[in-house]
Amino acid sequence: MKIMVIQGPNLNMLGVREKDIYGPMRLEQIHAQMKEFATQNNVEIEFFQSNLEGEIVDKIQECFGEVDGIIINPAAYTHTSIAIRDAISAVSIPTIEVHISNIHRREEFRKENMIAPVCASSVVGFGPFGYHLAMMGMLQIMNEVRAVKEAQKQAATN
Ligand code: DQA
Repeated sequence: MKIMVIQGPNLNMLGVREKDIYGPMRLEQIHAQMKEFATQNNVEIEFFQSNLEGEIVDKIQECFGEVDGIIINPAAYTHTSIAIRDAISAVSIPTIEVHISNIHRREEFRKENMIAPVCASSVVGFGPFGYHLAMMGMLQIMNEVRAVKEAQKQAATN
């Protein structure tokens, strides 16, 4: 089982940018914790951060046939990117969206969300702990997918 974690623009500045909103943790620290949890659960995990919309689209496309689940924080592209939304739809890999801050309690423009409707679920407003919750959710989804596949295989052999 493999999870791809995709981080959008300015998330490489975590620990420096707007600490009152995003907290003091750096992206590397968040990823180290996710890696530890993945290892404990026998899951392969890869991390990708980009400030460029097209690179994020390319990475989502690369996941096709290679990855079982995507955890994505599209950052500001959440509110604007039809291209990222379409890429998630196109690969049809279970995807969980994470937002460190509670985007529903912030500026009006952050209430617009292009990405949520094509995701299995969203985790919002838990700070960096949201990534851990997303990992737990993804393990649950992957177990369910595995169970359905095994049941289908069983039915085909009967
Ligand atoms: C964010 C929320 C976005 O509105 C913002 O542009 C970000 C981070 C979050 O994790 O809370 O860069 O996605």
